[in-house]
Amino acid sequence: MNSFGQLTLAGFFVGLVLAFCHGYTAHTTEFTGFTLVNRTMSSATIFLLGLVLVLGPLVRVFGGAWKTLFMLRKEIGMYAFLTASMHGYLSWFTRVSPWSTIPALVAFWTMAALFLFSFAKLQKHLDPALWWRLQYMGARVALVSIVVHTIVLRFDSWIIWMTGWAKGEQLYPPLALLAFLFSAYVIAVKVFERNLAQKDLLLRVTTFVWFVLIEILFILPRIR
Ligand code: HEM
Repeated sequence: MNSFGQLTLAGFFVGLVLAFCHGYTAHTTEFTGFTLVNRTMSSATIFLLGLVLVLGPLVRVFGGAWKTLFMLRKEIGMYAFLTASMHGYLSWFTRVSPWSTIPALVAFWTMAALFLFSFAKLQKHLDPALWWRLQYMGARVALVSIVVHTIVLRFDSWIIWMTGWAKGEQLYPPLALLAFLFSAYVIAVKVFERNLAQKDLLLRVTTFVWFVLIEILFILPRIR
């Protein structure tokens, strides 16, 4: 498939992720307009970037449809930078703690560098090993910085959500919490990949535990 075909196919997939994030936020919150778009873009960025990082292990262990997405991971990463840019632009005038803004800017500029060096014209100026190292380290630095950004900003509101959940008021977990849990899953998989002999088994177990945890977040608020 040529690069235009890859971009189109990846764009279709990213469209599905955006539709899910937008639909979920519209259904579970009262946000409208730019706030709704902003919330959609921020969480979609985490899902897309996390997916780019976890596709290698997923293909190795589960194969199948993941192979197609694996071929598109560079393009998915490029779209992730576009959704991050839109979120950064829409959030620029909202004042929040520097402990959240600094990691956000680190993630943003790291993703910007990865985006620029995804273009063949710039890529050819770098030694292939250096280019690979940049992509490898950059995506990890960006994801960890985003996790810090999101925790600093939203941890309090997740506790409030759980308090409402305990009273039976809040049925749906916030999308940013689901995105955060996905990034925690990705980080766990990447750590196991590097350090442990039983990494395939651990990937299966971690994936199973992650799905169970998400089910619990949806089911428990309804059991009262
Ligand atoms: C680089 C990628 C980025 C990701 C993945 C990201 C992710 C997120 C997430 C998940 C939230 C919580 C949204 C929610 O509760 O639904 C958030 C909120 C926020 N982010 Fe980012 N962020 C990024 C970059 C930035 C940048 C560059 C800035 C600006 C300096 C920024 C400023 C903010 C602000 C101000 C909020 C609070 C918005 C509000 O309360 O409506 N973020 N971000």
